[in-house]
Amino acid sequence: MSEQTPGSNGQYYEHHVFFCLNDRVNGENSCAHHGAKEMFDHCKARVKAEGLSGPGKVRVNKAGCLDRCAGGPIMAVYPEGVWYTFIDNDDIDEIVESHLKNGQVVERLLTPPDVGR
Ligand code: FES
Repeated sequence: MSEQTPGSNGQYYEHHVFFCLNDRVNGENSCAHHGAKEMFDHCKARVKAEGLSGPGKVRVNKAGCLDRCAGGPIMAVYPEGVWYTFIDNDDIDEIVESHLKNGQVVERLLTPPDVGR
C-alpha cells in the first residue's frame, strides 16, 4: 500500500476544488452558460503547471449543480468551505496564485452569502 501524503492541514488534499459545470438545456440559467467548462479546463492546467496538483496539494474536480446558481459560475474550495464567483481566466489565475498556492482567500471574488439558486 502506498503512503499517503497529507497536506499541511492534515487533509488528503490541502485544497479540494469543485467547479459546477451544470448545463441546463431547458432554458434556465446554469454555470455552463457562463464559461464554466473553459475556466475549469484553465484552472486544471494552471494548477498542474504550477506543480500544485496531487495528494497533499490540490485537486480540481467537476461537479454538478451546487445550488447557488444565481452566483454562477461557481466553485467551492474545501475543507475551507470558501465559495467563489468568477468571470474570466484572470480571476481563475488569481484564485490559483493567491488561495491555492499561498493560502490567501481572494475576498473580491467571494460569492455573497445570501446567493442561492
Ligand atoms: S448551475 Fe451551477 S450552481 Fe447551480
